[in-house]
Amino acid sequence: MAQRKIATIVGSLRQGAYSRMMARALVELAPPSMKFTEVEIGNLPHYNQDLETDAPPAAWTEFRKKIIASDAVLFVTPEYNRSMPGALKNALDVGSRPWGKSAWSGKPAAVVSTTPGALGAMAANNHLRQVLYAVNLAAMAYPEAYIPAVATLFDESGTLTNADARNFVSGFLESFEHWIEHLLHHHH
Ligand SMILES: Cc1cc2nc3c(=O)[nH]c(=O)nc-3n(C[C@H](O)[C@H](O)[C@H](O)COP(=O)(O)O)c2cc1C
Repeated sequence: MAQRKIATIVGSLRQGAYSRMMARALVELAPPSMKFTEVEIGNLPHYNQDLETDAPPAAWTEFRKKIIASDAVLFVTPEYNRSMPGALKNALDVGSRPWGKSAWSGKPAAVVSTTPGALGAMAANNHLRQVLYAVNLAAMAYPEAYIPAVATLFDESGTLTNADARNFVSGFLESFEHWIEHLLHHHH
């Protein structure tokens, strides 16, 4: 099987983010056929159409290039006020322009939402997937990944130690790989 390049986008900007720990656990448990690279979003200026000139902000251009060079996109996000964090929505907007040249279009995607709380950041996950469809990112429908009580799943070094969570993540990755292969074979 060809090795697929997958851009990982983490919705939290903070150093100790549980969502980033989960993103790293996905990398740890992934088969060699899936090569994940985190693409930063914290350095992207707020989307402003006035800046969409022949020389847009360099950070926008770098971000768009990295997404275009990827075969698929994985989103791992916390929930802010029952939606996705603003930084993540901004990254989606930046990638979607200039008009007609969206970096996202046609790529397979998957979403994992995490929270130290009880509800699995389900609202963020569903809002995010709604936006992914709007930019023609093909978000995997099943299995859904709503991870509650995320703070209890890792040891002090940030390793995912909870056995049920490790099994779930492995199965999720297997499904995502099938989703990617299915879509890319149909498109290319
Ligand atoms: C502005 C803000 C809003 C939040 N709203 C929610 C929420 O709607 N649902 C939820 O489960 N947690 C909410 N939280 C708590 C986050 O889940 C918690 O801070 C989490 O650790 C953030 O993810 P991270 O660890 O990946 O940075 C909120 C946190 C912040 C800072």
